[in-house]
Amino acid sequence: MSDHLPRTVSYEAEPGHIGRVLLLYSGGLDTSVMLKWIQERYGAEVVALTVNLGQPGEDYEVVREKAMRLGALDCHVVDAREEFARDFVVPAIKANAVYGLGYPLFTALGRPLIARLAVHYARRSGCDTIAHGCTGKGNDQVRIDATVATLAPELKVLAPVRSWQMGREEEVTYAREHGIPVKGGTESAPYSIDDNLWGRSSEGRWIEDLAHAPEDDVFQLVTRPEEAPDEPEVVTVGFEAGVPVALNGERLELVELLERAARMGARHGVGIVDHIEDRIVGLKVRDIYEVPAAAIILLAHQELEKLVGTIHQNQLKPMLDQRWAYLVYAGLWWEPLRSDLDAYMEAANAQVTGTIAVKLYKGSARVVTRSSPYAIYDAQLATFAESGGLFSQAAAPGFIELWSLQSRMAWQVRHRDEEGEGGQSGA
Ligand code: ARG
Repeated sequence: MSDHLPRTVSYEAEPGHIGRVLLLYSGGLDTSVMLKWIQERYGAEVVALTVNLGQPGEDYEVVREKAMRLGALDCHVVDAREEFARDFVVPAIKANAVYGLGYPLFTALGRPLIARLAVHYARRSGCDTIAHGCTGKGNDQVRIDATVATLAPELKVLAPVRSWQMGREEEVTYAREHGIPVKGGTESAPYSIDDNLWGRSSEGRWIEDLAHAPEDDVFQLVTRPEEAPDEPEVVTVGFEAGVPVALNGERLELVELLERAARMGARHGVGIVDHIEDRIVGLKVRDIYEVPAAAIILLAHQELEKLVGTIHQNQLKPMLDQRWAYLVYAGLWWEPLRSDLDAYMEAANAQVTGTIAVKLYKGSARVVTRSSPYAIYDAQLATFAESGGLFSQAAAPGFIELWSLQSRMAWQVRHRDEEGEGGQSGA
């Protein structure tokens, strides 16, 4: 004990103390190699957990079988789509959550839920450690480690990719030696993909070359706008208190609604974002995002919110929205400021009820109609045609006189010395 350096990180697993590990398992190369490697390296048992957040086209039975074949004690497959939509995506919608002007946070929203489920299943399965496949360069390690350390101080975290120093080639070799199937061929590295029902990201390969325009094969979710239908499609999104509840007048469960919106957007080439991003660990990177559902739902929500809010609410909320998005991006889902902000989001969304129609056409999504019982809008007042009643045009000059008073005085003070030399001239 005496020659032991003091630990700098409270939550990291120590080699001698790893007995049973809950591994967040995707079925991909990294976590498959990891499943074997943890057993070999630490003589530990591994329980796998795979979380379904609506990754399109995933076959979870295949993932489960693969984990069992690689020696997992058990493999839990959890369908968390509903919880994800209700407790993570809906708050993001209420906060119009977009980070860095383009990223609707689908991965950032998923990680705290995945990590919370890992804590739950680790405890249930008698594990002392949670392992994940995040690298030391990304945001996801921050989100997962911070969640585990917050919710379960008794559990430790193991992140082998941060330390094992295997590149893709070594991993493929390890996989071959250990009978781990490598899908999609082994010659060239694939894109690094992460997805769920709120969006999909691609990283790596040519994406790292900022001078390289997107190659067609990166778009596996959204139709390229060039190939989208020649006919536009209008979709109406109905909201109640900020929550999307209907598409084209049909009431839908949340998951179904989000998945349908994604399909509509995808068909029309909507939601492609080529994004430069400031990661929380200091790196600046490029991501290609495909976010068809978010592109439609966030646009509609924001528009409806603007319609029912006052000028004062509409000016403050984007600042709070931005703080919310940053906290969540930065892995601080459990930070009390996030729930404080959510209290405001709830209040501000109480009136966000109504319907917004969005026209989808070859990559663009544009609001075309709006309606809400809470709209602070009166066509009678706004019209260019003669209006009487509440709005008094005769009162307007009096308003302008007082409204501009300080600005006029300040102008005069600043231009006092120029008087007589044209300072007062308006010509
Ligand atoms: N840049 C995004 C984020 O930080 C997406 C990350 C995707 N994660 C992944 N493991 N490929 O949230």
